[in-house]
Amino acid sequence: MSSADDQKRAAGEAAAALVETGMVVGLGTGSTAAWFVRALAARGLNVTCVATSQATADLASSFGLAIAELGETRAIDLTVDGADEIGPGLSLIKGGGAALLREKLVWEASGRCVVIADAAKQVKTLGKFPLPIEVVAFGHKTTALRICDVLSEFDIAMMPRLRVTDGGPVRTDGGNLIYDAACGRIEEPAALAAALKSVTGVVDHGLFLDLADLALIGADGGVMTLEP
Ligand code: 5RP
Repeated sequence: MSSADDQKRAAGEAAAALVETGMVVGLGTGSTAAWFVRALAARGLNVTCVATSQATADLASSFGLAIAELGETRAIDLTVDGADEIGPGLSLIKGGGAALLREKLVWEASGRCVVIADAAKQVKTLGKFPLPIEVVAFGHKTTALRICDVLSEFDIAMMPRLRVTDGGPVRTDGGNLIYDAACGRIEEPAALAAALKSVTGVVDHGLFLDLADLALIGADGGVMTLEP
């Protein structure tokens, strides 16, 4: 049986094969996206990359890939990124690496988005992985209470938890905070996405709906291809 890391690597390498010379390529964040970055660099193509986090920009630069800011290149041809959950229709939960805002900005600016993952990420219903929600730091406890109210409208009774590390709150590359909402099951992802987005103080959330064009999922015996 292949390990999760083997599966991530296989998916990353399969995605790198989709890149053509001259493309502008969006680079995701996380361990699976890192395999894609390595495989892309190994191909030695002439590409320009737009990174979804400082960590990915640093990794890509260390392999000699050219990095540009979002908006400083022509349109992004292809973005490849990981996910925390892949649900029906390639609906996704992302943001486990606290990069969801930059990821969504890059995905939405891309002609084609490919999600890469190990087999354990595929789920029948989104929500077991706690939904990351990025909020501005000012008044964040008040924002968290309002998020809680929104969740209760969807019969999700829980208080989102501030993401912390080594005793301090996690800060995103943009200086915001992350709350994680352990929803359990998200029965109406589109409605929940819209409701969360309407809360003042919420910058964005990790529901990526109608954005992925293709999933490449590493599994025992090869890489599975899924379309929405
Ligand atoms: C970062 C993300 C990642 O793509 C997601 O957390 C998956 O990470 P990994 O590839 O390490 O399992 O959304 O914000």
